[in-house]
Amino acid sequence: TTWHSSDIDHVIVSEEQIRDKTAELAKQVAADHADAESILLVGVLKGAVMFMADFARALGRVGPPVELEFMAVSSYGQGTTSSGVVRILKDLDRDIAGRHVVVVEDIVDSGLTLSWLLKYLESRSAARVDVVALLRKPDALKVSIPVRYVGFDIPSEFVVGYGLDYAERYRDLPFVGVLKPSVYGRG
Ligand code: PRP
Ligand code: MN
Ligand code: MG
Repeated sequence: TTWHSSDIDHVIVSEEQIRDKTAELAKQVAADHADAESILLVGVLKGAVMFMADFARALGRVGPPVELEFMAVSSYGQGTTSSGVVRILKDLDRDIAGRHVVVVEDIVDSGLTLSWLLKYLESRSAARVDVVALLRKPDALKVSIPVRYVGFDIPSEFVVGYGLDYAERYRDLPFVGVLKPSVYGRG
């Protein structure tokens, strides 16, 4: 174990579970978009980076050609609860009009980030916008949003790892876990 995986109380989703689920989700997306010339993945920085990298490779193996775009929005800042305020920190680099877009997210918590993002992408005239999220917290949802592809529904605990951070740390852990309560006090 590394020094910071000793900050983890327990694992919620293991590295192996993530790998298997990613392949399964890629197959579903490939089947549903079999008629697309290409699929434009929009990864939501920074949390989605790990899932984006693994999902893009899994999808590329079984589906149409994949293109990658990234957006950066922020709703959490340094805290552990969503503020509901979404800011664009990095916009799309290209026109998405007429494209089959799949938004790639690490987690849907309150749903506020995605709800805003979906409206934004639709306003940019994508032909179709689907969402793939590795994790979802059904009990934390504040807005109803159509997340077509979900990896794991998890309890409303604060989780880190595989892209998810607490104060920018723990994104590099290869699994998703719950932090020990003692970690929060450290600031
Ligand atoms: C986290 C997470 C999702 C969003 C989910 O991102 O990666 O993007 O919050 O929360 P919501 O459903 O309540 O809107 P965060 O804003 O922490 O930025 P980050 O990805 O850079 O960590
Ligand atoms: Mn995020
Ligand atoms: Mg975050």
